[in-house]
Amino acid sequence: MKAIVLSGVGGTDQLVYQEVADPTPGPGQVRIALEAAALNHRDIWIRRGLYAGIKLPVILGSDGVGFVDEVGSGVDLNLIGKRFWINPSLAWGDRPDIPDYKNWRILGLPDQGTYAEKIVVDVAQLEPCPADWSAEAAAALPLAGLTAYRALFTRGRFQAGQSVFITGIGGGVSQMAMQMAVAAGGKVYVSSSSDTKLENARRAGASGGVNYRQEDWVKTAREMIGGDGPDLAIDSAGGKTIDDLIDLVQPGGYVVNYGQTTGACQNLEVRRLFWKQVNLLGTTMGNTSEFRAMLKFYQELNLRPEVDRVFDLAEAGAAHEHMESGEQAGKIVLKIRG
Ligand SMILES: NC(=O)c1ccc[n+]([C@@H]2O[C@H](COP(=O)([O-])OP(=O)(O)OC[C@H]3O[C@@H](n4cnc5c(N)ncnc54)[C@H](OP(=O)(O)O)[C@@H]3O)[C@@H](O)[C@H]2O)c1
Repeated sequence: MKAIVLSGVGGTDQLVYQEVADPTPGPGQVRIALEAAALNHRDIWIRRGLYAGIKLPVILGSDGVGFVDEVGSGVDLNLIGKRFWINPSLAWGDRPDIPDYKNWRILGLPDQGTYAEKIVVDVAQLEPCPADWSAEAAAALPLAGLTAYRALFTRGRFQAGQSVFITGIGGGVSQMAMQMAVAAGGKVYVSSSSDTKLENARRAGASGGVNYRQEDWVKTAREMIGGDGPDLAIDSAGGKTIDDLIDLVQPGGYVVNYGQTTGACQNLEVRRLFWKQVNLLGTTMGNTSEFRAMLKFYQELNLRPEVDRVFDLAEAGAAHEHMESGEQAGKIVLKIRG
């Protein structure tokens, strides 16, 4: 089969489109012929050597959708030909609140990922994908949808009628958090480096947005949201933004973070955290129940994730460059077949 293999860390020239042996499913496993995969910022961090536990060579990619084309021993033969999403959260374990850190992994390092024509996964990772989903939309959903769902509903306890401030709305996870929060009947405010992305967010149901490149964006956001501030803020920028969001949310509000794109937070104003009784929470990916609940949410409300651009599998390097440019609004997809 053809796959994109990462053999060294560095530039996009390290992503090599090449022939590799077809993987064979073991007991309890299936092989999926992938229709499409999608990028996550994690793939960029790994390619650049900025991720823990890198083992090379590896096929990157956490998101994928496709058809079962072979099953291992002990697996129902009737699965062959059926279409599935792959849950990228592997071996989460029994506790819903945290993963089993000894065994938990994200698909696409160290396990071989979805930038390939075929992939082998445990049958427990499969969730049925209906025919009315395009391969591109379906591939865009898993990792970002799961992360956004847990950040918003499990960790952020978001409910209809509440307000949420989501940073960096161009991001794949942010887009899905916005989509779900609007669909859940909340009031959504966003930030972005791009006024065009802010305008697009308003069209998608956001009540307002601020450009985080403006020095006084917290003040602008506070005036825009009114009252005591939002019930919840969701962030993956990290850095100083964490301090700013503790300032922005209402007393007793929630700040839920899932990334640190801009680096560590150097000067946290701790006084504000305790005085306002703010709940500062971290979140990562999610468990199997949350993955299923997220898929159900999207299907029942007939939502589709925002797909920014589609590249061929062989163009994975160009797709990475596009993500690194920060120009995207939504998910970047790799089309594999069909
Ligand atoms: N813990 C987890 O489970 C998990 C899961 C998924 C992702 N992540 C992490 O979350 C981050 C985003 O991932 P992604 O896949 O959604 O990436 P992405 O699609 O590349 O989105 C990155 C977005 O970050 C925004 N951003 C950059 N600098 C910012 C700042 N100073 N303030 C606010 N926003 C800023 C930009 O928004 P604009 O374009 O609107 O300016 C950019 O589009 C990455 O660091 C990733 O590693 C973590």
